[in-house]
Amino acid sequence: MKIIRALELEGKSPYFRALQTGNSPRIDMDGRPRMMLGSNNYLGLADHPLVVEGARKALERFGTGSTGSRLLNGTIDLHLELEAEIADWYGTEAAIVFTTGHQSNLGTVGALAGRGDVIVADSDAHASLHDAARFTDAQSVRFRHNDIDNLAEKLTAAAKRGRPTMVTVDGVYSMEGDLAPIDRIAEVCLEHNALLLVDEAHSVGVFGPDLTGVTELYGKADTTPLRTGTFSKSIASTGGFAVGSHDLIDAIRTNGRAFLFTAAGVPAAIGGALAAVRLIRSAEGRERAERCLANARFLRDSLASLGVPLIGPAIGPDGAETVTPIVPVIVGESLRAFAKWHELYEHGVFAALAHYPAVPLDRALLRLAVTAEHTFADLEEAATSIHTVLEPAVERRLVA
Ligand SMILES: Cc1ncc(COP(=O)(O)O)c(C=O)c1O
Repeated sequence: MKIIRALELEGKSPYFRALQTGNSPRIDMDGRPRMMLGSNNYLGLADHPLVVEGARKALERFGTGSTGSRLLNGTIDLHLELEAEIADWYGTEAAIVFTTGHQSNLGTVGALAGRGDVIVADSDAHASLHDAARFTDAQSVRFRHNDIDNLAEKLTAAAKRGRPTMVTVDGVYSMEGDLAPIDRIAEVCLEHNALLLVDEAHSVGVFGPDLTGVTELYGKADTTPLRTGTFSKSIASTGGFAVGSHDLIDAIRTNGRAFLFTAAGVPAAIGGALAAVRLIRSAEGRERAERCLANARFLRDSLASLGVPLIGPAIGPDGAETVTPIVPVIVGESLRAFAKWHELYEHGVFAALAHYPAVPLDRALLRLAVTAEHTFADLEEAATSIHTVLEPAVERRLVA
């Protein structure tokens, strides 16, 4: 924290930078035009006319605030319409809408696990899944990231003690952009009678024949009991959801403290999310998902051809290489990473910087993320800037 404070005083902190525009590929930040390569607006829907229109209509009809919880006065028709739309999209009996994605995980895990249960989470799972486990009276255990043998060991140990278990994983991991091997995870969960929850935050809108996420990509949508997600990335709003059977969703609706004891999502957020979900389910959604992944591939290839060190590509079903919208550039040790982030910012590119504890100690990342709206020219320009910034000065002198 001391480092961040010192960087803030020098005007070099990568955090809490203010935008003067929306989250399109070309933004104004700190009063200067820059390229946005650090948003989660994967499909580029955050300023799409139909999504803006959905939000505006909801705002005009229902006003600004929800002024209460879903349980009492906060539910409007649009919450129910959105839940029906999401359940239909995911092919589940029911869906429930939360005020944020973080609360989706807290509310879901918190409602379904308790004293005497064991929650086994992937060590790299999003903070909200770890927070969710802490939020319950269940025993919280972690397995090594994407290590299925280690997961099986943890589940065997829990089963020996006769403990009901829940397994929580991300579909796409938010920092390094790799995928969870859902086929093998689902199999191990089935063998050990564990309830599997997949958080599709970074994969909804991007993966699977119906764009519902990585579980569908692995052909496990019908047999995975619980999936959660957020509206804050491809769905271009704020809020979150969980899908599953009537019984599971009803249990969340009645016991999920993070669902019950907070204000409902505001009308504009829900109207915008509903419009975005409908758009994702249309031909345009598929076309945008394809463009987003083509952009990710282009950026990866451009950086790799310049010798910029990257993590990945990710491995998908059948061991095939795949890209995700997240393109992680390795910058190394944290202090170097802060300096390089700032140099890149001065070159007019905003990237997210991930450092310890979000990533291992000496593996800070520039977490780049593309959208369907970036052009190849944008990405080529960004790759050149990144290469210039990361190239060691001594090499630059030699080339010159
Ligand atoms: C994997 C994952 N799950 C949940 C969340 C929380 O979602 P929200 O931002 O809607 O609270 C995030 C947000 O960064 C995430 O990356």
